[in-house]
Amino acid sequence: MIITLEQAVKILVEDGIVAIPTDTVYGLAVLLEHEKAINSLSTLKQRPHDNPFPVLISSLEQAEELTSSLPDNFYQLTNAFWPGALTLVVSANEKIVPKSVRAGLKTVGIRMPNHPLALKLIEKVGPLVAPSANLSGTPSSTSPEHIMDDFGRDFPILGHDPCQGIESTLLIAQDDSWLLARQGAITRDQIEQVLGIPIKESTSAPGKKHPHYAPKAKIILGDAEYHGDPAVVIGFEGRVYPGAKMVYTLGNLKNPETIAANLYAVLRQLDQDGITSAWVDHHFPKTGILATVSDRIKSIVKHGFSRLN
Ligand code: TXA
Ligand code: MG
Repeated sequence: MIITLEQAVKILVEDGIVAIPTDTVYGLAVLLEHEKAINSLSTLKQRPHDNPFPVLISSLEQAEELTSSLPDNFYQLTNAFWPGALTLVVSANEKIVPKSVRAGLKTVGIRMPNHPLALKLIEKVGPLVAPSANLSGTPSSTSPEHIMDDFGRDFPILGHDPCQGIESTLLIAQDDSWLLARQGAITRDQIEQVLGIPIKESTSAPGKKHPHYAPKAKIILGDAEYHGDPAVVIGFEGRVYPGAKMVYTLGNLKNPETIAANLYAVLRQLDQDGITSAWVDHHFPKTGILATVSDRIKSIVKHGFSRLN
């Protein structure tokens, strides 16, 4: 159910949950100080309790209130990428950020989304606890239909824009540098250019323990040549897949942003159509946003089926 900004404010203030659009994917939002709503959010998403929730903000002042100390190069990153698709994990102000948001950690993940409606809402009600709007482990939602599929047709959704399609990049502050915990819409190259130092990957981020982004269908990584099995292919415009009975297209490789934007919609469509297995074309340059698309596909192939077992 599509709602207005005023209705969203009312629901949030009354301890409720609303879906909100952002520049990356839809989020499920509750107010920061509303512990009851935060618990309901965990239950609704079926989110494991050891996986912390990120917080969305609309100003640097809010970022400073939620944190206890900020690394020097924090502002280098925010100047370059906020508002935008970058979540920064830093020391939390434990008096303000509830333990349930942090999953007991001493840190908090914050992001200023580049979306006018989301920013307007946060200006009215303050920082929002807002994970992606999907059942834990499944593909993120990039349109209101996806949210209704997961949470029912009456679930309140602010706005109706489709989102850009891939989650924010997640960096964790460590000493004077940052660890890359999740590739996302902003590429590693862009970040390294701003920081002027290379960044390492985090191997132990809390989100890494859990499966993500997976449809019910079994996805087979197409690194070798396609020989017609399975009969369903997830591929690219302008390519031929001899023997395929059905091809779901992610778009044209000349337009990588479209591919990123279509990925979750195509994965969700497979499940809608009752497809049980698909071969995904993995022959593409792993640069820029396509590196993130490749990362998501590999993550689905690795963890996807375990969710059903
Ligand atoms: O683009 C996005 O980031 C979207 C939109 C809605 O803003 N949100 C999103 O939220 O993808 P979620 O909850 O699906 O993913 C957030 C990730 C999780 O992997 C979580 O483990 C990590 O952020 N995270 C949050 N707080 C953290 C913390 N204190 N330490 C380490 N990781 C944290
Ligand atoms: Mg998520």
